Amino acid sequence: MKVFVPTNNKGGVGKTNTSALFAEYASKILNKKVLGIDFDPQCNFSQRYLAMEVDPSAPEGWMPPIHPDYDPTSKEDADWDGRSSIANIFFGEEVIPYQTYIENFEILPGNADKLLQAEQIRKTEVLEKIYKRMSEFLTLPEVQNSYDIVVIDTAPSKGPLTRSAIRAATHMIIPTVMEDKPIQGVYGMMQLWLAESTTREKSNALNLVGILPNMFKKTSLHSQLYENLLEHESLGKFILPTIIGNRVVFAEADSPNPNPRSIFDLPDNNVAKQEAVSACEVIAERVFA
Ligand SMILES: Nc1ncnc2c1ncn2[C@@H]1O[C@H](COP(=O)(O)OP(=O)(O)OP(=O)(O)O)[C@@H](O)[C@H]1O
Ligand SMILES: [Mg+2]
Repeated sequence: MKVFVPTNNKGGVGKTNTSALFAEYASKILNKKVLGIDFDPQCNFSQRYLAMEVDPSAPEGWMPPIHPDYDPTSKEDADWDGRSSIANIFFGEEVIPYQTYIENFEILPGNADKLLQAEQIRKTEVLEKIYKRMSEFLTLPEVQNSYDIVVIDTAPSKGPLTRSAIRAATHMIIPTVMEDKPIQGVYGMMQLWLAESTTREKSNALNLVGILPNMFKKTSLHSQLYENLLEHESLGKFILPTIIGNRVVFAEADSPNPNPRSIFDLPDNNVAKQEAVSACEVIAERVFA
């Protein structure tokens, strides 16, 4: 089972867009069984596929909707509040993924309050604890046998949730906008990748899929920074050969009830779809090689 993780501690660079595009591509186009996991308390990845609700006890926090399998009259569900989030694994609770509107693609949404709580319990031990729970979950036979790939969306942070997602990953990708701060984020993520790589056995390497230019505009700033990166002696070879442009279709896909629901349902002559397909083809070659 592959574990694919987009990371960049700079916000708004396209981590969630990359998670969604590749999860949809792998399930819809490649017929792979996909589990999406939302490790970001902002819950943007979850909101894209589920009608997330505002948690009354944490007004700024999102929580998952009532699960369609929940039956309040059943004895079996007596100890369950009917909502299932990946954060449950940090509280010794079971998780039940939700089906998305795409066949073969299930998701374990975030729960803002619980994810934040999980990161706050005893800071020094927290990375070990979060990672331990996560790796226990990912190695469960029912998870290993049910999915070909897990896509973990991460927060704009280098905190314990992001670090444990990187530790659990088989493949990492770094989306970035061609601007100074996001590129600083790329350097930070490269350091995390190198640090993690030195702790791994060869047979269990953390593969860097590459650096994905996103929201690319044909301005001199973007073009110049892109050229500089391509020529960079250590980073140049990691720049993916495909670019995702700054296109309204990608932003619209993130709004409630987009039409069509997936970029991959657009006509073949749509430029945004063509860019998404090209990028996902390259990613898939590297992930499923
Ligand atoms: N290629 C693109 N063209 C236009 N808009 C885009 C593109 N990629 C992403 N967006 C939009 O830009 C915003 C930020 O993208 P996204 O949510 O994927 O970034 P992120 O790195 O996950 O952000 P955060 O760090 O807050 O989690 C979103 O509103 C998204 O819809
Ligand atoms: Mg995001």
